[in-house]
Amino acid sequence: MLELAAKVHDESRQGEAYAPFAGDPTVYRKKFYIESYGCQMNFSDSEIVASILNGEGFGATRNLEEADLVFLNTCSIREKAEQTVRKRLTDFRKMKENKPGMLIGVLGCMAERLKAKFLEEEKLVDMVVGPDAYRSLPGLIEEAETGQKAVNVLLSRDETYADISPVRLDSNGVTAFVSIMRGCNNMCSFCVVPFTRGRERSRDAHSIVHEAADLFNRGFKEVTLLGQNVDSYYWVDEATQQQGETARAVTFAELLEKVALISPDLRVRFSTSHPKDITEEVLLTMAKYENICKYIHLPIQSGNTRVLQLMNRTYTREWYLAKVDQIKRIMPDCGISSDIIAGFCTETEEEHRETISAMEHSRYDMSYMFFYSERPGTLAARRYKDDVPEDVKKRRLQEIVEVQNRLSLESNQRDIGRSFKVLIEGESKRSNDDWMGRNSQNKVIVFPKGAAEHKKGDYVWVKVNSCTQATLLGEMVTA
Ligand code: 5AD
Ligand code: SF4
Repeated sequence: MLELAAKVHDESRQGEAYAPFAGDPTVYRKKFYIESYGCQMNFSDSEIVASILNGEGFGATRNLEEADLVFLNTCSIREKAEQTVRKRLTDFRKMKENKPGMLIGVLGCMAERLKAKFLEEEKLVDMVVGPDAYRSLPGLIEEAETGQKAVNVLLSRDETYADISPVRLDSNGVTAFVSIMRGCNNMCSFCVVPFTRGRERSRDAHSIVHEAADLFNRGFKEVTLLGQNVDSYYWVDEATQQQGETARAVTFAELLEKVALISPDLRVRFSTSHPKDITEEVLLTMAKYENICKYIHLPIQSGNTRVLQLMNRTYTREWYLAKVDQIKRIMPDCGISSDIIAGFCTETEEEHRETISAMEHSRYDMSYMFFYSERPGTLAARRYKDDVPEDVKKRRLQEIVEVQNRLSLESNQRDIGRSFKVLIEGESKRSNDDWMGRNSQNKVIVFPKGAAEHKKGDYVWVKVNSCTQATLLGEMVTA
């Protein structure tokens, strides 16, 4: 599959379950198992679900065989993501034949998109729960236990799960996600997210800073602030409202600063930025604090203004490229990555080549690349014909992937001879004798442990000696 050949952002991270709840296993009411698909937001939501279920006396397990409750946290972004989930449900159907008491719940975007229809299509599913309805899970489980089908797909205007402390299971103990907002108001015409995750709302800034500080106190060294569109974060602090005066609001730049100030040893990342919303103030805040990582995920989607207009992205090619130039001017060493869609409705060969030239201009360090997949109910599905033939879409995607592969290699080659401050995330997958970490620009660096006594979560300086397209290889040096 070509889509697999590309560096696929969401579907590549699938099938991860959670480590057992660190409590006394004899007190569990029941054991649950969660498998997460899709974006980082979904993985972060699964940690909220785990926390809600833990609070009700359910214990997490990694072992599907011993689970009484099996949850799939699903993604609807492309048709292929939904097919993967349906295949997985077939496996569960087989398991359930030998284990009739087992309950199966579908969570997340696919639950929201298909609602009760899911129960007709997939008869073995017992619960269908949308992204804003996780607090009702304990009640829904009780309903399902009595043999009823349980559904809650109500979207909320204010749910942010601000007070729920996510259970950091399956974690490396060094890096963690912190959700800062939910939903999306952008209405990009290709995207199903506004329909599955509802209106945009920002989480209480105090609860975000508190969660990040708590992570740091527990030994974590990096937080990634997560949202569909982090730059439009805007939280009004009602508590600051004085009589006759308006309450104070916190912008994304201010939030970034607050989190950065927790400690210079806590790295801060964020994702995802919409090019129309990332402000100069955010860029200047990034430049001001060494611990705010110099890396921006800035999806372009297409490099052609007419296609961008059809996509309802609200910026032109020139505007986007000027934003990239501004980033590089303010932070010359900032890493930039992108999301790119090949073969959107009516895209011509020339317009496709404009995407490639925009990639060359932006010199992306990395991209997530997809071919267009029509999603029912989206603006594009209603307004435009999905008229680029599949073989053309795949060929264009292949060309985009090849350009990106070259850009990634060139970007890594430019780093040879340079030294970077690296946060050690763990041992390299290939060898126990090597550490793996990331530099501020989010590049993976692998280097020998050597004789020095270092551990996961330490910062070290590493000089790059060589590279592949995906990884820098180096050796520790003194700062
Ligand atoms: N088809 C293909 N790719 C899509 N994306 C979102 N919707 C679609 C779709 N219908 C891509 C966009 C987005 C990323 C998360 O997924 O590039 O930024
Ligand atoms: Fe995440 Fe939902 Fe988007 Fe999938 S469709 S990437 S789960 S927000």
